[in-house]
Amino acid sequence: MTAARFRIAVAKGRLLQEALPLLGRAGLAPDGDPLRERRLVMPCADDGGAEIVIIRAADVPTFVEYGAADFGIAGKDMLMEHDGRGFYELCDLGIARCRMVVAGHARRGAPPRRPRVATKYVATARRHFAQSGRQADIVKLYGSMELGPILGLSDLIVDLVDTGETLRTNGLAEIEEIAGISARLIANRASMRIKGTAMRAVADRFAAAARTE
Ligand code: PRP
Repeated sequence: MTAARFRIAVAKGRLLQEALPLLGRAGLAPDGDPLRERRLVMPCADDGGAEIVIIRAADVPTFVEYGAADFGIAGKDMLMEHDGRGFYELCDLGIARCRMVVAGHARRGAPPRRPRVATKYVATARRHFAQSGRQADIVKLYGSMELGPILGLSDLIVDLVDTGETLRTNGLAEIEEIAGISARLIANRASMRIKGTAMRAVADRFAAAARTE
């Protein structure tokens, strides 16, 4: 790899779309269009020392934890799923806002005392039910969690809700909220120690860009 001063890992998908204007305001726009191109590493157009790396959302905390990226932009949902000890969470970027909820059939009675819960957020779901003293059997899925209750695979799901349209359209309803979700700026712990002043200057640019959102 090149010797970039800073490498910023950004989760691809919906979050990347919302992160691009923010990166622009922070003076860290990539020198191409990561929504169209297949390049995974892009230098920043106005800051030759910085690079943007496009990574699958669930992998952003790992790249930052191991120092392969100095900064990461990832959803709080992914940070909650990771154990969160390998990096600093520096600020809430105020983009990609949604909520993590427990949902189930809209027109059925209460779920069983020990429900089966389909989710890709296995650790978060397990923690949520344990913290509220309830037993639950968690089933790992990789997407389209709504199909769990629809096809009888599970009683409940733990999933993200934005507009609520997907739940409504599929005859499901929110039962309880687990957490408010948004994109966060995270940083590698060693990078913060070794190049702290410069890292904090970049973090301040992100915080200022987030305030003008
Ligand atoms: C997310 C989430 C819900 C949907 C919620 O799915 O898992 O399915 O968006 O959005 P809404 O409340 O505005 O309808 P995504 O499209 O990211 O795909 P996934 O099912 O593979 O996670």
